[in-house]
Amino acid sequence: MIGRLNHVAIVVPDLVAATALYRDTLGATVSEPVDQPAHGVTVVFVGLPNTKVELLAPLGDHSPVAKFLAGNPNGGIHHICYEVDDILAARDRLQASGARVLGDGEPKMGAHDKPVLFLHPKDFLGTLVELEQA
Ligand code: CO
Repeated sequence: MIGRLNHVAIVVPDLVAATALYRDTLGATVSEPVDQPAHGVTVVFVGLPNTKVELLAPLGDHSPVAKFLAGNPNGGIHHICYEVDDILAARDRLQASGARVLGDGEPKMGAHDKPVLFLHPKDFLGTLVELEQA
């Protein structure tokens, strides 16, 4: 059911330093920072040949990643995102198997303007999983 790995999201305490680490130390191609006020984050996209890494820093007072950063002051992997062809079919199949979908269970428009859902980390090996309709 799941397809390509769309991205790995890493929450970072210092976006400038994190960008320099990926650009200069790891030699990756990185974007300019992009504010996404609707999602409470500023994102730097790291382009890799087969997927992306997203460096996320809190934006605003009610960022959904602020609590994560408080618990992980050095930063850390926040979620991984898999592509699916049909997000409603994927949701229904997962819920039928007992997996918990976060929120009200309805897909929201994600950071790439495509429908996304998040799955409960306790049901997926301690990992927050995002599904994005490709
Ligand atoms: Co994501």
